[in-house]
Amino acid sequence: MQLRISTDQPWQVKADVLALPIVGEPAFVDALGELNRHSGGELAALASFGELNGKRYHAALAASGDLPAGRLLVVGAGDAETISREIVHRIGATIERRLGGRTVHSLAVSLGDLAAHVDGGEAVVAELLVRGVIEGSYEPKAIYLASVESAPPALDELILVAPGGDAAALAKAAERGRIIAEGANVARTLANRASNDVSPIVLAEAAQEIAARNGLAIDVIEPERAAELGMGMFLAVGRGSDNPPRMIVMRSGGAGELDQLGRHLAIVGKGVCFDSGGISIKPADRMEEMKMDKTGAATVIAAIETVARLAPGTPLLAIAPAVENMPGPHSTRPGDIVRAMNGKQVDITNTDAEGRLILGDALTYAEQLGATHLVDVATLTGAVSRALGHLITGAFGTPQPWYEEVMAAGDRAGERYWQIPLVDDYVSEMDSWYGDLQNSGSPEGSLVKSGLFLREFRTRPWVHLDIGGTGYFRKPLPFAARGSNGITHATLVELALAGAR
Ligand code: BES
Ligand code: ZN
Ligand code: MN
Repeated sequence: MQLRISTDQPWQVKADVLALPIVGEPAFVDALGELNRHSGGELAALASFGELNGKRYHAALAASGDLPAGRLLVVGAGDAETISREIVHRIGATIERRLGGRTVHSLAVSLGDLAAHVDGGEAVVAELLVRGVIEGSYEPKAIYLASVESAPPALDELILVAPGGDAAALAKAAERGRIIAEGANVARTLANRASNDVSPIVLAEAAQEIAARNGLAIDVIEPERAAELGMGMFLAVGRGSDNPPRMIVMRSGGAGELDQLGRHLAIVGKGVCFDSGGISIKPADRMEEMKMDKTGAATVIAAIETVARLAPGTPLLAIAPAVENMPGPHSTRPGDIVRAMNGKQVDITNTDAEGRLILGDALTYAEQLGATHLVDVATLTGAVSRALGHLITGAFGTPQPWYEEVMAAGDRAGERYWQIPLVDDYVSEMDSWYGDLQNSGSPEGSLVKSGLFLREFRTRPWVHLDIGGTGYFRKPLPFAARGSNGITHATLVELALAGAR
């Protein structure tokens, strides 16, 4: 797909479809007024008919009269006061998805008035709109089906329309948006693929291909070496399956090399290729969704590729413990005691609380490899979706300045988080009769406890992002297909790029 910047007025742009985001109620002045005039009053007629209303994510497709564009698409961005980077990103995606099933080769998207409502101005809007359009073009059904009805159009050309804009700066921003979106889509496909397709070994092979095409170092640790390294929690989860576990370790930059901010950042992602719960087996209802339990791993593997594409050589570690959590004669049993890599004796009271086990050892290993700052991403709990729903990711962290730094990256990326407290008083509720601690504890405050457990396995600044509610959508939204959505990928990329030279 060609990316192009046009500094002409929207009514001068030739494309199959010209999309115009509008802020607030439709008012037929300025660009909208001019487009309405050229359309022979079509837009105003649609507005009085109720088809064009300016509501957020509502998109009206209209005839274009004597305009060089074939059709017009007027998209509501909603209330000016609540427009954010996240909304701009979603507007881009909404435009592309609204065109599902239509024949569109060239799409022009006007920046409209959006730049007045986000900090960073036109360049940021250009980046986010392109990111949105390309992520909006993602179609999960295309993974296993040769043809998909009403798929978002495969564009030959995407034109950003910014009258009088700085074309060179906008082109650069748009290209950045394209690369981040492509990375998010890589993560989505890895996450969406079925468990009979993506085992830990296959996930490791995918990581190896990504490493090879980006000049990244990679080390895939097999069970024998994991045992020598003392990764007892990781191995305890993996042992129940015929598909053996793999600890995937990818690196850009030198071993232990510090970035521009004096950090050796590690991003760690939960890679449970299927979570049946193990011996503490899950109920059948929605168990099929647990193929998505590898989303964190998919996200960090894609993120290190995106960072390598945007700023090659930036110091960064990506670690993805990959396992299948299955019941069987070799499975870990409730009550088994295992030795974590950091020496703690852990009482596994619930084999369905497996994510924290594999992540605990991965965090310890990241520190052994020299990581000074840690962020993990995991579909860790069902509790986080009960607390925050499918649009806000739960975030934990300590110390607070590092948490704030990660949140600032999230703001730049247009992704939303809410902090969950690490309540020290609850640690004792995970006391074990036989070990240092147990992996689950009573259900009360289980979301807090999931974070408290992980906290025991790192000594350096650390943030944990629980995407158990936000990682995939159960139904399509105006701005996203169902399934994996790439959440946190852009945050991790922004965070790492802050340290690029
Ligand atoms: N992968 C699940 C969490 C999950 C469930 C994510 C549903 C997305 C949708 C995780 O491994 C799990 O089973 N967590 C348990 C923890 C409990 C046993 C302490 C949970 O949340 O119920
Ligand atoms: Zn899980
Ligand atoms: Mn589980």
